[in-house]
Amino acid sequence: MGIMYHQFDLDNINLDMQPPMEEPARQYYFMAKCREHVRKEQARLGRPLTCATVTFGCQMNAKDSEKLEGILETIGYQKADSEAADFVIYNTCTVRENANTKVYGRIGYLGMRKKKNPDMKIALCGCMMQESQVVEKIKKSYRFVDIIFGTHNIFKLAELMYESFTKRHMVTEIWEDTTQIVEDLPSEHKYTFKAGVNIMYGCNNFCSYCIVPYVRGRERSRKPEDILAEIKKLAAEGIVEVMLLGQNVNSYGKTLEHPLSFSGLLKMVEQIEGIERIRFMTPHPKDLSEELIETMKHSKKICPHVHLPMQSGSSRILKAMNRKYTKEDYLKLVDNIRASMPDVSITTDIIVGFPGETEEDFEDTLDVVRKVGFDSAYTFLYSKRTGTVAAKMEHPVPKDVASERFGRLLAEIKKTSEERALRYQGRVMEVLVEEKNAQGDGMLTGRLGNNLLVHFKGEDSLIGKFVPVHLAECRGFYYIGTLSEKKS
Ligand code: 5AD
Ligand code: SF4
Repeated sequence: MGIMYHQFDLDNINLDMQPPMEEPARQYYFMAKCREHVRKEQARLGRPLTCATVTFGCQMNAKDSEKLEGILETIGYQKADSEAADFVIYNTCTVRENANTKVYGRIGYLGMRKKKNPDMKIALCGCMMQESQVVEKIKKSYRFVDIIFGTHNIFKLAELMYESFTKRHMVTEIWEDTTQIVEDLPSEHKYTFKAGVNIMYGCNNFCSYCIVPYVRGRERSRKPEDILAEIKKLAAEGIVEVMLLGQNVNSYGKTLEHPLSFSGLLKMVEQIEGIERIRFMTPHPKDLSEELIETMKHSKKICPHVHLPMQSGSSRILKAMNRKYTKEDYLKLVDNIRASMPDVSITTDIIVGFPGETEEDFEDTLDVVRKVGFDSAYTFLYSKRTGTVAAKMEHPVPKDVASERFGRLLAEIKKTSEERALRYQGRVMEVLVEEKNAQGDGMLTGRLGNNLLVHFKGEDSLIGKFVPVHLAECRGFYYIGTLSEKKS
């Protein structure tokens, strides 16, 4: 929808000059160069050129895709509804094995499309491309791919595209890691009322199962003034809800020249007029501070929701996972959070079938699930990622044992989360209206501060607005409600 504008005017860039060395000026130069190319192509073909960005994986990737789309739109591409486009980017995820398999299948399918439209360009980026064996495989078996880049240089899309337009060979540029953060590039946002904002990149935790630290590099925080300037700009454009994004938001600001805590940052964001709701993802339980709990408790804008990945309830497995907390630490943390904010919603991530997980370990996970009563949980079957410490661990859990445990875990979570959701029945609560239902039944979908979804009848004009909704009927994970006069 909206595109965030910036201080660079493409029309005033002298394209006969050598590209500037400094960023982001260099990228605006290449955007102008690519735009010239796109205009020529459009004239030749007598139609607009289209683009499609397909995103796999997490919020971090979704945010990166908005940046890619911002660049593509600045260059002059029109967004296509499907992958039948002139420029297609796959922004990939590698957190679990099946994510990779899915991508290979779809790249093959893109290759068939390209046979019909030889001018089509295919670019691959994201976490999967940070793995050298993946890039080797693509170079060998998917030679029709035009551009491969990684997680650290997405800001260079225009420069890589220009190279591809002029040289017509496969352009590959992967960086091992970076300390660079390039600010002030264009960015699309999917919604006109809510947006994600990166506050930091990378992860230093090296949980033994996780590939993220290898593909997203070391932690680096954006300067608070850059984050605040971005959020103020978003607020001026009508954004009312922001999601602060980082792999481990609790360690925000530690490496800044003038260190600042995550709570300190939250308090600054809270001051921004027009921003009504603040969310964040993801805090690591090992260093969720008392200060953060206090900040949330006293805030009128920070949503009463903590996503607190537990991964396992067994202290033994947590140690093997290198999570640096025990079952008891986790339970105590939840108690502390609930003692300060009785109504807070707590959600989690759980992995089943980590190497060496015994029935007893799994019982510990179930025990925590029962004791905490999560409002919802994402559950994953352990997936071996080459290059991580856990990939070399002995005693893999047999597939059938892991699936059986997975089923039991799901049943337990369903029970506790339905119980939790029920506690709002009959209340009138503030909802931010997000979209109309796909079924075209005149219903809207909105979200409560605690992240629960509510469906209710209403006009499309309410999208992006806060309205009070009477939560009439709990349907497990969501509510059916009716618009109400006022909050109770
Ligand atoms: N196998 C299964 N799940 C994983 N996750 C991360 N790595 C793996 C893996 N190798 C899950 C964790 C994390 C979520 C984003 O993905 O639960 O919190
Ligand atoms: Fe992966 Fe652990 Fe970092 Fe999360 S905190 S990204 S699970 S290494």
